[in-house]
Amino acid sequence: MLTDELRAEVARLKAERDAVVLAHYYVPPEVQELADHVGDSFALARLAATLPASTLVFAGVRFMAESAKLLSPNKTVLMPDPTADCPMAHMVRRETVETARERYGDDLAVACYVNSTAEVKSWSDVCVTSSNAVKIVRALPQRNVLFVPDRHLGRFVAEQVSEKNVILNDGFCPIHQDISAAEVADLKAAHPGAPVLAHPECGPEALALADFAGSTSQIVDAAAAGDASDYIILTVDGVRGELERRCAGTGKRFHFPATRPVCPDMARITVERLAGCLREGAGEVGLPPAGVAEAARRTLERMLELGAR
Ligand code: 13P
Ligand code: SF4
Repeated sequence: MLTDELRAEVARLKAERDAVVLAHYYVPPEVQELADHVGDSFALARLAATLPASTLVFAGVRFMAESAKLLSPNKTVLMPDPTADCPMAHMVRRETVETARERYGDDLAVACYVNSTAEVKSWSDVCVTSSNAVKIVRALPQRNVLFVPDRHLGRFVAEQVSEKNVILNDGFCPIHQDISAAEVADLKAAHPGAPVLAHPECGPEALALADFAGSTSQIVDAAAAGDASDYIILTVDGVRGELERRCAGTGKRFHFPATRPVCPDMARITVERLAGCLREGAGEVGLPPAGVAEAARRTLERMLELGAR
């Protein structure tokens, strides 16, 4: 629970450690309240590469903290709960990448969703996030693109970039994939005319019912710019806080699936764990072995070059 004492302690510890707290929109609202920066994966990666603080506390899942460490190897990167991990980050086999490389040779690029381990990134040519995947895949010189690990984001990209042969892997986000078309149809019936704004990690049946698909920031931007009063939101419930902050005073209402999509790994980041990690300097994220770190860093740097919004 976020008390005034905890709030004051976190502020003091941040100053003592020269630390900034970066939080993803999916962590609990009270953690977002304590953060210096809240954003989507792309915005947070870009910040991690440029912030002057010597310590970054990453309120999110492991691949986010790991990317921050790869981009700023001299900084101390801490995780309030180092066990918070995205299951999709592991859903690709090296064999899949090697088979595609053998088949297509130089005319293949491996595009890796940032929701991946450093090792998976090190097998790849470029990273993407949900906010820039279409733009980056379109800009690649190769015609064949193996997209890992997320099959749903990969399929969404393939539909937008029809000039490329996008080869899909079979990874998925269990939370987004579980949002059913029936639930979306119920929401549409309850809120007729409300635009449906979806994350592209949703399955094809739910996504087919969406009016707009984009990253969490892009969903918030679309709701803020729209002139409707009600919006159906197909992503993790944590984004509600940012929707309400950005649309404050407009009377806009946001409707999420009744099953309330929550990412259990993001939910592991509590205010108590955030304070504990600042107090003890615990949960430090290290660099992977040198060869892996260099190759993985290159994919992130290439994304930052190609994906600047
Ligand atoms: P964003 O790219 O919108 O930050 O989403 C990250 C994520 O983990 C989605 O499940
Ligand atoms: Fe991974 Fe899905 Fe959680 Fe995002 S919402 S961190 S993709 S499990």
